[in-house]
Amino acid sequence: MRGDDVIETDDDQQQSFYTDVVAGLSADQKTLPCRWLYDQRGSELFEEITELPEYYPTRTEIGIFESHLPAMAEAVGPQAHVVEFGAGAGTKTRLLLQALKAPKSYVAIDISADFLKSSMAALAADFHDINVIPIVGDFMDAAGLAATQLPEGNRLAFFPGSTIGNLLDMEIIEFLKGVRAMLGDNGQFLIGFDLVKSEDILVPAYDDAAGVTAEFNLNLLKRINRELDGTFDVDAFAHEARWNETDGRIEMHLVSQTEQTVGVNGDRFTFQKGETIHTENSRKFRLDGFESLAKQAGWNFKKIWTDDRAYFAVALMG
Ligand code: AVI
Repeated sequence: MRGDDVIETDDDQQQSFYTDVVAGLSADQKTLPCRWLYDQRGSELFEEITELPEYYPTRTEIGIFESHLPAMAEAVGPQAHVVEFGAGAGTKTRLLLQALKAPKSYVAIDISADFLKSSMAALAADFHDINVIPIVGDFMDAAGLAATQLPEGNRLAFFPGSTIGNLLDMEIIEFLKGVRAMLGDNGQFLIGFDLVKSEDILVPAYDDAAGVTAEFNLNLLKRINRELDGTFDVDAFAHEARWNETDGRIEMHLVSQTEQTVGVNGDRFTFQKGETIHTENSRKFRLDGFESLAKQAGWNFKKIWTDDRAYFAVALMG
């Protein structure tokens, strides 16, 4: 890592946050982009979610990596320059970097500056031979900047965790196209995505008994109160996870428990009892559905790995 340097893509996060909140709360179906769930507290809560008994994706994906990393590393090839979107705590990153043959660079893009700084400093200390470059920003915006930091050669994009599932189809295609343009024709993409399964498994994964996901969702209102001079009564909203069969996605909502008016930086927003703020989509894919989205962006499956229960998949695309 080059000193303590973190490259920033968006100096005015506060302004973007405010713009998104005002636009989202003014819509007929109130909505807030899920990227704002990840302040320092939100990122910590998400890490807690990944440990919950009900939340199968993280441990299932790690299981896939543990079973198939030698084959993945073989398929990727030596001296890779890796770029990861939404680097998180880096557990899977470490597994991948350990398995790859002589990886050269690791560019990490994450929305949370503090979180990125601490996790990347720890990573750089453990992987001396790899040039670690942290970039703060939304991964949808940061690809251009990441491209300038990524040397020529064996370029690999890494996007585990099914974070791709938090995007809409149009955004998925746009993002996958952007990554293709960024890496060039010989680039490869190792991507994890969650698969469709029974509602009985899906809903508890997003509405756990310990209430951690509820706290994660409600933390967004606390963030608005703290950063945008909001007046949300957090206890007057309840977390809800819904399976939307038609669109193949789990939706997180915050449900107003009463008729109320809330202020954000002087603007006022009225809620009916039962009205919701839609805060996240988490798509669950069929293999052929994901493959067809990837194809529309110019990517083809080279290999695909899954677990015994077919809960989750990791694809190498080229
Ligand atoms: C980051 N992302 C893939 C998680 C998911 O499963 O969609 C975010 C999450 N939301 C609630 N629980 C986990």
